[in-house]
Amino acid sequence: MSVLVIGATGFIGPRLIRRLVARGEAVVGMDLNPGAAPFGDVPIGAPVVRGDVTQFEDVMRTVLDVKPERLINLAYGLGAGEGNPHQVMRLDILGMDNCFEAARLGGVKRVVYASSIAVSGQQSHFGDRLVNEDDPTHGTSQYAMHKIFNEFQARKYIKNYGMSITGVRPANVTGPDKVRGSVDHVQIMVDAARGRPVHLPSKGLMRLMIHVEDIAEVFTRVLLADAPRHPLYNSGGIPVSLGELADIVRGFLPDAQITFGQEGGREESGNYLVDWSRLAKEFGIEYPGLHTRVLEVINEVRQQEGLPPVTGR
Ligand SMILES: NC(=O)c1ccc[n+]([C@@H]2O[C@H](COP(=O)([O-])OP(=O)(O)OC[C@H]3O[C@@H](n4cnc5c(N)ncnc54)[C@H](O)[C@@H]3O)[C@@H](O)[C@H]2O)c1
Repeated sequence: MSVLVIGATGFIGPRLIRRLVARGEAVVGMDLNPGAAPFGDVPIGAPVVRGDVTQFEDVMRTVLDVKPERLINLAYGLGAGEGNPHQVMRLDILGMDNCFEAARLGGVKRVVYASSIAVSGQQSHFGDRLVNEDDPTHGTSQYAMHKIFNEFQARKYIKNYGMSITGVRPANVTGPDKVRGSVDHVQIMVDAARGRPVHLPSKGLMRLMIHVEDIAEVFTRVLLADAPRHPLYNSGGIPVSLGELADIVRGFLPDAQITFGQEGGREESGNYLVDWSRLAKEFGIEYPGLHTRVLEVINEVRQQEGLPPVTGR
């Protein structure tokens, strides 16, 4: 089937496209920056056209050219900060709406979009319990507010036009080439793999880690499904404090220099206890253990640097 991936050349997009192509789907990507170099120089494997998701004409023209049966939007102001509200609002809110509207006008059968765990806000709002997709959202950053509005707008399109639109709320996606969004967990693995010291503020800060290949698989399954049962799915992941992650890394790299400014941080953590049973049950999703993924990240980085691989503990 034909699939249009908008935001195709970032961190997640190329991995999603490679999986779709491997399953025999006819994929076209659209991105403001179509020629971005993929990590490890692995080709994306599908044509990527230049288009700006904030320009309705670009999205509509691409939908009419590609005539996709499925459309996914990954283009977003991730890590764009809170300092540029107008530009980021155009990308996050207008861009997402352009995708929904062009899909509606172009008769695209199914749309998938990336929301985020950020919608939930701090874990402290929920105490020590797991948070599910029906819980109230407490996010207050501009990024979180935009994701909350995207979810609202998706519900509108579903209700008013009977469209099939599904959101996935990824947790803290991790991988060797992540440069936007939460990157403290990436620094711990990547800088240590390169033999560089890492210093971070809070040892106890919690993250809910999901490897980029795992979230790419989640998006692939949700996108290719004919009729997902729910409008929203938490990706879930593996909860870990930065201190615990540092210990895992030291298990592979005993000389790693990872230090923290203070012991605490757990109380200030974003949502990290997440119920993702909806996704697991319906799509048969399981994640490899954190040690496995950490070792992979370390060795991918070391290979890029021309350093010898490290072996299991
Ligand atoms: N990476 C994470 O940890 C994480 C966590 C939760 C949610 N998400 C969500 O998943 C999605 C994808 O994340 P990612 O990490 O791949 O992001 P990314 O920033 O690496 O990729 C986004 C892509 O969108 C493109 N883009 C930016 N502005 C554009 C425009 N105006 N028109 C067309 N393309 C444009 C960029 O060139 C880039 O290739 C985003 O919606 C993000 O909010 C990511």
